Amino acid sequence: NIEKTLEGKTVLITAGPTYEAIDPVRFIGNHSSGKMGFSLAEEASKRGAKVILISGPSSQKINDKNVTLHKVTSAKEMLSKVFEFYDKIDIGIASAAVADYAPKEVAKEKIKKNDDNLTIELIKNPDILKTMGEKKTHQFLVGFALETQNEEENAKGKLEKKNLDMIVLNSLRDEGAGFKNDTNKIRIFTKTEKKEFDLKSKDDVAKDILDFVESQLLK
Ligand code: PMT
Repeated sequence: NIEKTLEGKTVLITAGPTYEAIDPVRFIGNHSSGKMGFSLAEEASKRGAKVILISGPSSQKINDKNVTLHKVTSAKEMLSKVFEFYDKIDIGIASAAVADYAPKEVAKEKIKKNDDNLTIELIKNPDILKTMGEKKTHQFLVGFALETQNEEENAKGKLEKKNLDMIVLNSLRDEGAGFKNDTNKIRIFTKTEKKEFDLKSKDDVAKDILDFVESQLLK
């Protein structure tokens, strides 16, 4: 029996990778499976929240009457889906691995193998979470930071720059953390606090994250 600690709250979660089309058959993507975000959605729902889950391409499944799944492909689609709901949410958690760059132009036909070199020009994608931070009124915002070096410094930088209330750091230097695995190892930062956790299943990591969010909401 789980206490309905998030009853009456609406939680928006981004999950999975984004795919940025190069031509009709190819894309730029990354290794995110969506597991971390789907675990968060399930746990928030168990705690009584209404959950809006916005996911890039992922084979994760969810069957939960309190979770509405919106599937998107690119960063731009994810951004516009988030802002369909942004005004009405209480908590936003950005666990998606959004592509930072997308091809400037999408080729209409399959690119042929002609020359030895092929250059694809990329342009910066919108930063979804940063935009959420800029438009924040009452929402409690949680970001993720996926790092490979200078982890804490980079995570704290993102907390500040994106106007977040809390950031969850996972480092690819920690074995079993980050992409694809069923496990993760996290550190949580707010402007004044830091908490470090052991390697756990993503379901248990989701519990730790939501416990921490709840403790902050009570302050
Ligand atoms: O899906 P899994 O296989 O379970 O893996 C989980 C995960 C490793 C993808 C997840 O735990 C994680 O770390 N997600 C964030 C990955 C990431 O892109 O981190 P970042 O440090 O590049 O981005 C910082 C934050 O800004 C993130 O909250 C990200 O969602 C957000 N962002 C980044 C770029 C962008 N254009 N828009 C964004 O909203």
